[in-house]
Amino acid sequence: MSIAFADKQIVLGVTGSIAAYKACEIASRLTEEGAVVIPALTRAAREFVAPLSFEAITGRPAITDIFAPIANPEIEHIAVARRAHLFLIAPASANILAKAACGIADDWLSTTLLATHAPVLFAPAMNAAMYAHPATQANIATLLARGAHFVGPGEGRLACGETGPGRLIETPVILEAACILLSGKKDLAGRRVLITSGATHEPIDPVRFIGNRSSGKMGRALALEALRRGAEVTVVSGPARVPLPHAAKVLSVRTAQEMIEATLAHVDAADIFIAAAAVADYRVEHPADEKHKRNGDALNLTLCPNPDIAAAVSARKRPEQVTVGFAAETHDLLAYAQRKLEKKKLDLIVANQVGGENCAFGADTAWAWLITPGAPPEQLHLITKEELTERVFDKIASILRTRNT
Ligand code: C5P
Repeated sequence: MSIAFADKQIVLGVTGSIAAYKACEIASRLTEEGAVVIPALTRAAREFVAPLSFEAITGRPAITDIFAPIANPEIEHIAVARRAHLFLIAPASANILAKAACGIADDWLSTTLLATHAPVLFAPAMNAAMYAHPATQANIATLLARGAHFVGPGEGRLACGETGPGRLIETPVILEAACILLSGKKDLAGRRVLITSGATHEPIDPVRFIGNRSSGKMGRALALEALRRGAEVTVVSGPARVPLPHAAKVLSVRTAQEMIEATLAHVDAADIFIAAAAVADYRVEHPADEKHKRNGDALNLTLCPNPDIAAAVSARKRPEQVTVGFAAETHDLLAYAQRKLEKKKLDLIVANQVGGENCAFGADTAWAWLITPGAPPEQLHLITKEELTERVFDKIASILRTRNT
């Protein structure tokens, strides 16, 4: 369950593509996330997949007929068009794109698309030649110009045996695009956000490294929330267990040295910098060129300190830039966090308790405080990383407002 999807009414328009069966997975994931899914299948879609599958998955009637009784507000098209938060057409055939571009209204889905003011997200899926056809491309351009959104298609082997763009993009990518569109708060539109995320791996030799348990979940949640609020997001990411949002620009790095180089190359263009990476404090001074061989003797490694990325950014920041850091501590959390805020000259530090059942590295929840210079720490109690990122960006937006930028 996620707060981004909870109780959101999403019309899932399924059209006649061989990928129609994959819409069952999309319906299932959206339902799991807490959305109210209203499945609507075109006649061609029903040749590929049964409405009953969607009814079983979503627990709601699947709409198949424009001439359904008008008295049924569950499926009456104008009522649905008004109450929907999002129309997700997945898979979107060349036919529905053409109909939507021309304003043809000859079945429930195409008619309701004309009547809605909700955002519309198309996930195209078709043969590569159909997708590349100038008519399809012109229809996509028309729909984009009118404010419709697109996700995919992916590239690869298609059901027809050809290879190229035309595959329905993977479900997590579709869900992420839907999640971004479902946010009404666009207070970071036009802002650029740079985030460091994940761990760093400091080589010992070509096959071994010193690393840490950072999962990258916090960086991912921050990037997604910034995208939901309309920002342009770049993530300098060390090794992580979770993927970053597709809508973010990702610069993959391995070591702290690579992370600081990538960060300093991009930070001047950013309005907001968030240091969420768990950077190794030390690296091996002279990593071996060849794999160490075990010979029974003790092995001494000389470690030298890594640069502090957050401090380096603050040292050269423009007055209107906002810099945010994290302090994960097992004890004396507030005192350490306060010291880091001052030492690294940050505008905001998110202090979170590490250790314990809900607050371990890699957990989905955090026990956190927000600390800004000259103000008492704001306690957030135990909250999900998703909620925490909302509160962090609320605070960042309020700092930006005080700077009148
Ligand atoms: O100094 P410490 O690692 O405890 O501080 C944590 C904060 O500083 C985090 O925001 C982390 O991303 C950032 N940091 C950094 N570069 C380092 C070490 C930490 O940006 N070398």
